[in-house]
Amino acid sequence: MPPLTSSAPGVRPKAYRFRCITCGDLSDQARQDFRCAHCGDLLEITYPHWKESGGAGRDLKSTWRERRLSQSAIDLSGVWRFRDLLPGLESDDQAITLREGNTPLYELPQCARITGVPRLFAKHQGLNPTGSFKDAGMTVAATFARLAGFRWVACASTGNTSASMAAYAARGGMRSLVLVPDGKISWSKLSQALDYGAVTCQLRTDFDGCLRLLQELVLRAPVYQLNSINPFRLEGQKTLAFELLEQLDWQPPDHIIVPGGNLGNSSAIGKALVEMRDLGLISRLPKLSVIQAEGANALVRTLREASGKKLVSVQAETRATAIRIGNPASWKKAVHVLEATHGACEQVTEVEIAQAKAEIGAEGIGCEPASAVTLAGLKKLVKQGFVKPGESVVLVLTGNLLKDPDFTINFHRGELFKGTPDEEASAALNSLRRPPVVLDATLDAVIRTLEQAEK
Ligand code: F0G
Repeated sequence: MPPLTSSAPGVRPKAYRFRCITCGDLSDQARQDFRCAHCGDLLEITYPHWKESGGAGRDLKSTWRERRLSQSAIDLSGVWRFRDLLPGLESDDQAITLREGNTPLYELPQCARITGVPRLFAKHQGLNPTGSFKDAGMTVAATFARLAGFRWVACASTGNTSASMAAYAARGGMRSLVLVPDGKISWSKLSQALDYGAVTCQLRTDFDGCLRLLQELVLRAPVYQLNSINPFRLEGQKTLAFELLEQLDWQPPDHIIVPGGNLGNSSAIGKALVEMRDLGLISRLPKLSVIQAEGANALVRTLREASGKKLVSVQAETRATAIRIGNPASWKKAVHVLEATHGACEQVTEVEIAQAKAEIGAEGIGCEPASAVTLAGLKKLVKQGFVKPGESVVLVLTGNLLKDPDFTINFHRGELFKGTPDEEASAALNSLRRPPVVLDATLDAVIRTLEQAEK
């Protein structure tokens, strides 16, 4: 098996090192499961030369701006454009890229009125090449998989990781193996993995079971694991925050709100914020808050019941299948970033998620259910006084509306919460429903429908 080393062929030696998040052990090599050889905890990537060179922050802003005028493949990537703060490549053409990143920051005027927070924005990661934020991490991790000489890459997934991994593996000439929970992910995501040529296994277990199996598999077979346990993934996902701050002209928002599943993305964004502060790119840290579905609330319970000291796992259940995760791998990293940024952690109900998703849809933007927890969570954080009306807030929308059409169609047809006893909730949901109508093909029928919609 090729070793996973930071001085692998094609990688600038000593450009980065692996550090254990618990015992702090530093190494140039990582095991196949990306866990510390001493204590078994997760690794993160650090850059010792940043300190030696007195910080890398000085000219970065203008370098990144200039690269936006370039037509080279590596500069057209909204991830590799920030390569100065990523593990180094020896040559630009080593990157496997689909022009990921470069995602828009939208204002949300209607949601701003609903929440009473006028300065409300959405960073839409669902507009990445495969429709989710995973592409930002995958371009980096897939690149390093190929540099380390692997033929096979693999992941456990609730759908989006597998779609992304399969695409980048195909682009990079590698084979991919997908482990997903049978019947618990959207067909739309599964169809992507199939089309991109992955070997797809629907396992009779949940996501947590798939991930457990993958961690054993990578110790036995020469496959490179591309879950967010892989620290290269998180390095790529950091760039969301770099790009966001650039879009805000380096004025940090007061709050950034993300959905929490396996907790890789919140960890990555938090790491980026701290790095930007340490390098002098921003003067203060936004508060990073994590929102979970009530039925998959391991981090919420970990903080409330164990003060963030040990993981409280749950048997996860939610219609937001992307975050149907009960045993989040990166929980410790997420606790660290919540502490570092003074963010909050909240949970939201299934009805709150559906309502928020329809409200984001009504802005002409749309997202998948897991992304909508951010707006639902914001409403709670406003009510609690944690977010003040005068503050600026960025919601990270992680997945595209088209990722889970069944959820959306069932919502609008009124089939999602059939028999829900809560009248208040039903009224709120009904006002957002736009069910399709089947009509005779006559002008009269269409005009009557128009008139009714006006009422
Ligand atoms: N939103 C979407 C759309 C996701 O697909 C995921 C995770 C999350 C939020 C949560 O992010 O895990 O970094 O906390 N999806 C993974 C997958 C688990 O396999 O696609 P996280």
